[in-house]
Amino acid sequence: MNYLVFFLFAFCFSEETGRITTLLTNGISKPIGYNFSSLSLSWIVESSAAKLEATKVRIALDESFDNIIYNTKYQADISSLDFSPDISLSPRTRYFWCVSVKTDLNETIKSDITYFETGKIDEKWAADWITSSISQTEPQYFRKTFKIYGKASLSQARVYISALGLYELYINNEKVSKEHFTPYCTGYKYWLQYQTYDVSKYLQEGENVIGVLIGDGWAKGHFWFSKEPADMTMESNELGFPVNITIDQYLLICELRMNDQILVMSDKSWTCHLSPVRRSNFYDGEVYDCNYEIPNWSSPQYVENDWENAVVVYEYQQECPFTLSERLSVPVIVKKRFEPKRIIDTDVVDIGQNIAGWVEITIDAPKNFETILEFGEIYTKAEFDNSNLGSAQQEFRIISNGNKTRVRPHFTYFGFQYIRFKQFYGPQEPNFIKSFDITVCAIYSDLEETGSFECGSEDVNKYFSNAFWSQRSNFVDVPTDCPQRDERLGWTGDAQIFCSTAMYNMRSYPFYRKYLKDLYLLQLNSFANLSGAVSSIVPFFGENEEEQMAGRAGWGDAATIIPFKLYEHTGRKQILREQIQSMKMWIDYVQSEMASTSTSKMDEGIWKAAKEQFGDWLALDRRPKEKTGRTDATFICSCYAYYSLYCFINSLKAINEDEQVIKSYEEKMELTLQNIRQNYVTPSGRIVIQTQTAQALGLYLNLSHKPTVVLLTLKKILRDNDNKIDTGFIGTPILHRSLADNGDPHTAYTVFLNPKYPGCLYQVQTGATSIWESWDAISENGAIKSSPNSMNHYAPGSIVEWLYRNVCGIQPLFSNPGFKEFNLWPQPDIRLRYANCTVNTSMGTIKSRWTVYYNEAFAKRVKYEFSVPFNTVAHVKLINTNVKKVDAFYKPHSFSQESSRKFQDVKKLLKLRQTGDDVTVNLGSGVYIFDTPYHDHEIPINIQFF
Ligand code: BGC
Repeated sequence: MNYLVFFLFAFCFSEETGRITTLLTNGISKPIGYNFSSLSLSWIVESSAAKLEATKVRIALDESFDNIIYNTKYQADISSLDFSPDISLSPRTRYFWCVSVKTDLNETIKSDITYFETGKIDEKWAADWITSSISQTEPQYFRKTFKIYGKASLSQARVYISALGLYELYINNEKVSKEHFTPYCTGYKYWLQYQTYDVSKYLQEGENVIGVLIGDGWAKGHFWFSKEPADMTMESNELGFPVNITIDQYLLICELRMNDQILVMSDKSWTCHLSPVRRSNFYDGEVYDCNYEIPNWSSPQYVENDWENAVVVYEYQQECPFTLSERLSVPVIVKKRFEPKRIIDTDVVDIGQNIAGWVEITIDAPKNFETILEFGEIYTKAEFDNSNLGSAQQEFRIISNGNKTRVRPHFTYFGFQYIRFKQFYGPQEPNFIKSFDITVCAIYSDLEETGSFECGSEDVNKYFSNAFWSQRSNFVDVPTDCPQRDERLGWTGDAQIFCSTAMYNMRSYPFYRKYLKDLYLLQLNSFANLSGAVSSIVPFFGENEEEQMAGRAGWGDAATIIPFKLYEHTGRKQILREQIQSMKMWIDYVQSEMASTSTSKMDEGIWKAAKEQFGDWLALDRRPKEKTGRTDATFICSCYAYYSLYCFINSLKAINEDEQVIKSYEEKMELTLQNIRQNYVTPSGRIVIQTQTAQALGLYLNLSHKPTVVLLTLKKILRDNDNKIDTGFIGTPILHRSLADNGDPHTAYTVFLNPKYPGCLYQVQTGATSIWESWDAISENGAIKSSPNSMNHYAPGSIVEWLYRNVCGIQPLFSNPGFKEFNLWPQPDIRLRYANCTVNTSMGTIKSRWTVYYNEAFAKRVKYEFSVPFNTVAHVKLINTNVKKVDAFYKPHSFSQESSRKFQDVKKLLKLRQTGDDVTVNLGSGVYIFDTPYHDHEIPINIQFF
């Protein structure tokens, strides 16, 4: 590590010099009852030292570490990113672990103690699968009373529980856990997750009650492609079409164990009753009838009246069609609560932010009055508009029992910014709506937010915020396309496109890991002639090939690109090992498609779009009435085939797969590259397809031997389009990056900052609070374009990756992943004035800031400030400057408030190099300032060339 120049600065300060944070098991803090069939422990060391000397990991069966079962002792080569202890795990056991490190400051830093706890692993369930004897279309209460003798035994109580559709668990009148929509969304044909809860604190000596509310959702009720809404009026027993895509009866399985004994388990002695949740599904909303409320239904004081016994579902007892296994899903919870922003009218409320979630609301209306709230995303031309929801109704109906009450939905969520009070009790006055005392609840998967970006343009900041909100709104257990209309499905293309942005924004690893498991399971069960092909929707609930739309470029490539990106961001080989077969199956599927359509040498390795493709989905250069842009689908397919091979081969290398295997795929990749060139790149280096997306792909994948020619072509195409973006799902994530990475950051900014319709900042200026599916969703006169026009689609928000990677320059490196080594290549532009970016990476916090300013002599200068985490190496590039004109300052990290450390001039100590027009330097951990002249630089379009 000769580029770590700062041994010099390893001063021995008396202040605290370090700490260990973010101790995670498989990417999750203190997980209970998760699947640990593979184990990856990780942590972050922060220190003002220069070097990590050694690490020790210990695992024990008790918190006081008397019973240590694993001890690495101090070793130099333990990775903080991905440590897999070689231990075999027992069921229902809590493992405590901690880490100590030694640094070259001769200090020892110790972590806090953390833990993970196993579920049942392969233990058989003693409980029965039970269902209701009352109704299979109305959500239901289940309950069971039981006794506990003696206080002493109250510790160590766990509930193991799952259900179909969705459940909420209660003990003694309290809801256990903050989670919603358990047991979550999986490919139910193959596996169903159960949850484990530590319920010790809910129990009491004597009489206790366990209660479960079960309703519809995903597996049960109205979900999947629908043409009609469900009947939510309660007028018939039918819900509408289509319903019960996976299962047509409520199912529950539950065991409560205390100190190794099963105390309660689901069986026919449980009782059930109708609940106030009368109807519920994700698209149409919920009907809550207070007349059906049963006060204290899950408390021991309640005396059962007209409850029926549950029935055992014998077919599930004999042969359960799916595997019931420990969870991978991270909790979905109410992550943010806030007050609505304004009341627009006598009947419409603007909550100020487009979200996925619901409201808590106080209702005070006469008995049997039905309050109806409609949820929508659009308010235009002084009208609430929910015409973009497809068949989804998004309503919350509350039927009063005459008492004032506070309610929330249970088994639905809405994609919304506006609430219309379609029917309510009270005067038609704007202020009256206040009496409903609305609390807005944004609901999404509980992942730590790790990325932030802020600059001198309010519009750009808003775009960043909008993309973040679209991630939050579409991270409800599954990476969905949108949270509002009758889809909300795990479209693989969207997930793939946005994955890298998502990894900067949040610690999204466990979220995608569960998704990839479902993706792989579908491949293993693919339709006969589609072996290894990846479904375009994961999990998949349909029955036929047409619905699955497997084998589409950009969508199926989620199989290779997502694991590649997860590894790049986290350094966890776990994900590559788990997914390598899935990656291979997808690659082999594409190879077989190539082979079956190849007719000459020229098209070997070319993936012909013989079957239907999504192409450059929703690109604005498409023909009227079409959804696919003009970029040739075969070109897109072949580019993705090439890129997927690249991801696959590098993943094989990362996990040391057989060299012969690697070589054989390298040959395939080379063949594809050569024949893409043969077919699509002219001898003069031009990409023959004249679209923004094709040129961006050409640059991104380095297809031309003359990238400048491609860059100039792209610039001309952009200029001819008034510098407005017209790319679809394929081009959007890479357009700005391609320009920026190929020496023209200026044009990337020009296109991004263009406020004209249609475009990124246009939507911001109309007041958008999330990312639109289509650039042209709402026109300048406020007219809504025809479908699709979700207002909350994260896919086009993937431009945010450019803000992280290029504007602030923070780039992970696959070769030394998890930000152990990374590039810091910011590209300042005076049009933003300044940019501040922070990413709490897997190795610690990286900060990259720059400000363009005028010095006393009115010369433009740029001041950079970087923070490089402990035990990492940053490869810095300062663009368009001369090494002689760079000033450089440094101070080590400090951890105490009253730190007296000051920046020191280190220009002479750093090995700054002139590399072409730029200055480069490798930095070890610490905080740095560089000050240089600022030169804006746009590559001129060479008119001669055209
Ligand atoms: C979804 C997209 C998805 C697409 C597939 C749409 O309806 O909303 O985001 O990727 O279908 O073409």
